[in-house]
Amino acid sequence: MSQQFDVIVIGGGPGGYIAAIRAAQLGFKVACIDEWKNDKGGPAPGGTCTNVGCIPSKALLQSSEHYEHAAHHFADHGIGLSNLSIDVAKMLSRKDTVVKQNNDGILYLFKKNKVSFFHGRGSFVKAAEGGYEIKVSGAKEEVLTGKHIIVATGSNPRALPGVAFDEKTILSNDGALRIPSVPRKLGVIGSGVIGLEMGSVWRRLGAEVTVLEALPTFLGAVDEQIAKEAKKAFDKQGLKIELGVKIGEVKTGKKGVSIAYTNAKGEAQALEVDKLIVSIGRVPNTLGLHPEAVGLKLDERGAIVVDDDCKTNLPNVWAVGDVVRGPMLAHKAEEEGVAVAERIAGQHGHVNFNTIPWVIYTSPEIAWVGQTEQQLKAAGRAYKAGTFPFMANGRARALGDTTGMVKFLADAKTDEILGVHIVGPFASELIAEAVVAMEFKASAEDIARICHAHPSLSEATKEAALAVDKRTLNF
Ligand code: FAD
Ligand code: NAI
Repeated sequence: MSQQFDVIVIGGGPGGYIAAIRAAQLGFKVACIDEWKNDKGGPAPGGTCTNVGCIPSKALLQSSEHYEHAAHHFADHGIGLSNLSIDVAKMLSRKDTVVKQNNDGILYLFKKNKVSFFHGRGSFVKAAEGGYEIKVSGAKEEVLTGKHIIVATGSNPRALPGVAFDEKTILSNDGALRIPSVPRKLGVIGSGVIGLEMGSVWRRLGAEVTVLEALPTFLGAVDEQIAKEAKKAFDKQGLKIELGVKIGEVKTGKKGVSIAYTNAKGEAQALEVDKLIVSIGRVPNTLGLHPEAVGLKLDERGAIVVDDDCKTNLPNVWAVGDVVRGPMLAHKAEEEGVAVAERIAGQHGHVNFNTIPWVIYTSPEIAWVGQTEQQLKAAGRAYKAGTFPFMANGRARALGDTTGMVKFLADAKTDEILGVHIVGPFASELIAEAVVAMEFKASAEDIARICHAHPSLSEATKEAALAVDKRTLNF
């Protein structure tokens, strides 16, 4: 007799583990199956995000930022240093410790919430009485039955056609997070989020980094004015970004990698690097899930087809996170996980796609929520814009980081906030205020009339809101 559960979650990344915890909070008997292994073969729940994504990348961004501050900015504060060095092995081992703390934290949360954790691969066997049979293939094999199934199997890095990742020279995000020593020359294909974050880490530590991007515009999804400001800062830092390229042959040899490409003018070029990161997007993952065993529908990209409520084509089978449509972000996956658990409980779980924030953790950080100016123009929407530069913010001056600005976009008539875009220090934290404001359908004037602490970077947010009505006080 197989073990029976009310809810079985396949995948223990941010979509899956959060769905499992919320379902358990709601009184269901829950199992979560995850196959990720740590270097000792033990369980490492948390998915891409915890193991090779959000968490380790931010750990390395922090270490490399400290190094860059010590190398280039401490002197401004009168702090002298000699013989500055970077111990890459130590930096990587600190990152691994941070990852393990998160893995262990999730295992603890499963215990606390009485979620049964199964370490292994989950796959559909068949529809059965009382739900679906799911086989777990791990150290041992067992079959579970679940009334409801939530699939949260995430995504995998997309490779260039014919150029497989070996994680030594041709690196996905996985290898990019464990390069054993600072490469002299690092190539990056794709100037998206991973390319910019990982390119920044290794540039700060001394690598000469060249990023090759197919599109002619830099960060096309970002508000144009903000993307321009960010590009200026990256150029100044020495991060070389070539736009409008077409990648040709990629050859690995004893010395590294050579990449043949044509530049935006159509001229043939060659780039020789020690290591190459390929960050050209990610593909939904259903490897080993056996969706065909139950007739679970996938689209042409391999994503599980879901409706607005994350319902699949099968009764009581749901899917969330990177394996379905929408932005591939940990917090989007989490929100979907919570909403699905609540829908299973007969509640009205809801995810507002218009207020999902985006953050790129470079320096300057880039963060936004809502619509960009180019989107509003394309939609023919009448809007007012207000910007405020960090250059005019006292806290930013004290920090020694005055790059960038806050930008508000509000409806021309009602003043409702339609989008907020930030490039600059701690944009990742500042954006939260804008998300809350938009969820409450606030106007720019609402933010402008709220008391913000002085001196704080958040005053730039208030001032940008004031700028919508052309009445900044400090600029
Ligand atoms: P995943 O996190 O991919 O988890 C899926 C889990 O399911 C994995 O553990 C996998 O092993 C397991 N699994 C798959 N198939 C099976 C199966 N059949 N049986 C059992 N287990 C299975 N997002 C942000 O919001 N902020 C960031 O700063 C950020 N940084 C990132 C940096 C990098 C380098 C990368 C690559 C991604 C980053 N992301 C970030 C994106 C984020 O990691 C993903 O959006 C998020 O992890 C998606 O969560 P998920 O639960 O859908 O899938
Ligand atoms: P991405 O979609 O952000 O960027 C990929 C880039 O590669 C695009 O600019 C695209 O035009 C370019 N590209 C595609 N094919 C190319 C080719 N053949 N040659 C040259 N350029 C090419 O994807 P990325 O960086 O791989 O990240 C995947 C996803 O992971 C992100 O979209 C995001 O959802 C998530 N992520 C989120 C982070 C965050 O929230 N801070 C950090 C890192 C990843």
